[in-house]
Amino acid sequence: RARVVVLLSGTGSLCAALLDATDDPAYPADVVAVGADRPAAGLEHAARRGIPTFVSALGDHPDRAAWDRALAASIAAFEPDLVVSAGFMKIVGPAVLDAFGGRLINTHPALLPAFPGAHAVRDALAAGATVTGSSVHVVDAGVDTGPVLAQREVPVLPDDDEPRLHERIKAVERELLVETVARLAAPGTRGTSSP
Ligand code: GAR
Repeated sequence: RARVVVLLSGTGSLCAALLDATDDPAYPADVVAVGADRPAAGLEHAARRGIPTFVSALGDHPDRAAWDRALAASIAAFEPDLVVSAGFMKIVGPAVLDAFGGRLINTHPALLPAFPGAHAVRDALAAGATVTGSSVHVVDAGVDTGPVLAQREVPVLPDDDEPRLHERIKAVERELLVETVARLAAPGTRGTSSP
C-alpha cells in the first residue's frame, strides 16, 4: 500500500474520512503520519489510531525558509509516496516542493481556477456563484494553481451561508479525496503524472 502523509491545520474531517477509507483492506493506501502547523484538533484522528503526528509551527523557527526545511524533514522521515494537504492553511515553500513536488496534492473547496486562496467558500458566495465545488490538485509554487486532478460540482442554494455551503462542499471533498488518493496510489499508477 502507498504511504501517505497528511497535513492539516484544523478539525481534520477530511483526514478522518481518509483514515476511515484505509480501514478497508482493499484500499491501496495507508496514512503513515499526520502533520500540522499548529496543535490542531485534527491530529487527534491520527493519535486515536496510534498513527504518529507531528507539529511544525512557523513561530518555532527563525524564518519561513527554516520552517519550510523543518517541515520537509518532518514529512521525509515517514518516507511517503504521497503527501496530502487536507485543510493545511499554509503555503509550502521550495524545500517541501523540491522534496515532494508532483507527489504533493491539495484539496480545495472551490472549482479551481475559480476562487483560489484561504476564503474560497466566502468568495464564491460574495461573487454570487450558483455552482461551486471541490477540486483536488497537484501543489506547485503558486496559491492553488497546480494541475487539477479531479473536480466535483456543488450547487449554491438560495439560503446558503458560509458554514452551510462549506459543510456541503466538505461532504463532496471527502469522497473526492478518498477516490483521488486511491487512484494515485493504485499499483502501476503511483504518482500524480498519471491521468
Ligand atoms: C476543507 O474544506 C479544505 O478544502 C479547506 O479547509 C477545509 C478543511 O476541513 N482548505 C482550504 O481552504 C485550503 N485553501 P477539515 O478541517 O474539516 O478537514
